[in-house]
Amino acid sequence: MTERDRVPGRLPEDLTLRRPGPADHARLQVALAEWWGGLGGAAGARQRQLLVPRLFLQHFADTSFLVERPDGTLHAFLIGFLSQTEPEAAYIHFVGVCPEGRRDGVGSALYDRFFATARAAGRSRVRCITSPNNRNSIAYHTRMGFRLEPGDRIDDAGVPVHTDYDGPGLDRVSFVREW
Ligand SMILES: CC(C)(COP(=O)(O)OP(=O)(O)OC[C@H]1O[C@@H](n2cnc3c(N)ncnc32)[C@H](O)[C@@H]1OP(=O)(O)O)[C@@H](O)C(=O)NCCC(=O)NCCS
Repeated sequence: MTERDRVPGRLPEDLTLRRPGPADHARLQVALAEWWGGLGGAAGARQRQLLVPRLFLQHFADTSFLVERPDGTLHAFLIGFLSQTEPEAAYIHFVGVCPEGRRDGVGSALYDRFFATARAAGRSRVRCITSPNNRNSIAYHTRMGFRLEPGDRIDDAGVPVHTDYDGPGLDRVSFVREW
C-alpha cells in the first residue's frame, strides 16, 4: 500500500478484524515469541509472553484488535485499554504485525482504530512504552504522532530513556500522543 492509498483505519482488503478472546491466547503467545526478530533472545521472548497473560483477552477485549488472513491465521494484533486511573488517557500495551505483513499500513490502521475507540470514550491522550533497543518501534511511534517523554538520560541515538522503569535493567522509552 502506498502513502497515497492510505485511509485512516483501513486494512488491506483480504484481512479481517475482530475482537480477541481467551481462545486466541496460545497463538498470541507464539507471535510474541516469533515476531520480534529475536529481540532479547529467549529471555526477551518469555518476558513479552508474560506481558500478555490471558486476562487481557478476558477483560480488555473491547479495546483490543486481532487481524486474520482469509485462512484464519494470525496477521496482527493490538492490546489496549482505557485507563481507569487517568480519565483522559488510553493505553496501548502491545502491538504486533507478522514480519511478512509489515510496512503495509496494518500497524497504523490498528492505531487509527484504537485512537477512534479512545476518542469515542472521551479520552484525549494515548500512552505507550517500548524498549530503547526497539528502534523500529521508536521510528513507528514517532511517525504515528507520538512524542517521546523526557527521561532521566539520553542514549547514544538521542532518545530519552527511563532507566529501570519496569525494574532493574528494564529501561523504557515513554510515548504520549494528545489531541
Ligand atoms: C512496529 C510495527 C507494529 C509497525 O507495523 P507496520 O504495519 O509495519 O506499520 P505501518 O506499515 O503502518 O507503518 C507506518 C509508518 O511507520 C513507520 N515505520 C514502520 N515500521 C518502521 C520501521 N521498521 N522503521 C522505520 N519506520 C517505520 C513508517 O514511517 C511507516 O510508514 P511508511 O511505510 O509509509 O514509510 C511492526 O513493525 C511490528 O510488529 N514490529 C515488531 C513488534 C514491535 O516492535 N511492536 C511495537 C512494540 S510493542
